[in-house]
Amino acid sequence: MRKKVIAGNWKMNKTVEEGLALATEVANITKDEVPSDVQVVICVPYIALAPVSKVLNSRVALGAQNVHQKESGAYTGEISATMLASVGVSYVIIGHSERREYFGETNAQLAEKVNIAMAQGLTPLFCCGETLQQREQGIHIDFVNSQLTESLFHLSAEDIKKVVIAYEPIWAIGTGVTASDEQAQEMHAKIRSHLASKYGAAVADEISILYGGSMKPDNAKGLLACKDIDGGLIGGASLKARDFISIAKSY
Ligand code: 13P
Repeated sequence: MRKKVIAGNWKMNKTVEEGLALATEVANITKDEVPSDVQVVICVPYIALAPVSKVLNSRVALGAQNVHQKESGAYTGEISATMLASVGVSYVIIGHSERREYFGETNAQLAEKVNIAMAQGLTPLFCCGETLQQREQGIHIDFVNSQLTESLFHLSAEDIKKVVIAYEPIWAIGTGVTASDEQAQEMHAKIRSHLASKYGAAVADEISILYGGSMKPDNAKGLLACKDIDGGLIGGASLKARDFISIAKSY
């Protein structure tokens, strides 16, 4: 059985004080209302990680939104995987389209980030997804497959099973336009078959693939009912505890 994961990506939102209030609310409601087979994760800004780790319970895992690819050293302003692990982080978003676009992160760099995160026992939430133009040109499947090949396919079968993949079509992020259930399911199935082509169907069947891009309480049920969709990576709607948890309860 694949792990079901509902992860919130707060992006660059919330002061530490506001983040503590939101994390406390998420932890309390999750404990009382979310079925125990759903793993809830919140990916908070770096500055909030240590304080938020103190208010979470065992039902909510702590995630970061990025990690540097080197172990330590002269990289002013950066945060290492060791530092993340030291404050109780267990998940880390790698390769979000905003980091690829605004910070020029490449597939090769992301492969290094995956490696260093896994060496510290962190679970990569590895993001992939195409632009609207690529979809219109009909090259979206090949594009997403190449993102996976170049950043993940060096991993062993044992290691790839520990990665959580998030398909986030760029045209659906923060736009209010969600992929239809059919569009999302189609891409998730393609991703799984690409994984199967390298690692075999049994391994591909164990890998959780989340959908991200304007997932909200009112469209989550349909998306999460799709055969190859194993959860969500949620931006805007994760900033309100009730909305976020209502997505987690949509299974
Ligand atoms: P929205 O849910 O705000 O569209 O953001 C999705 C996302 O980028 C999550 O990482």
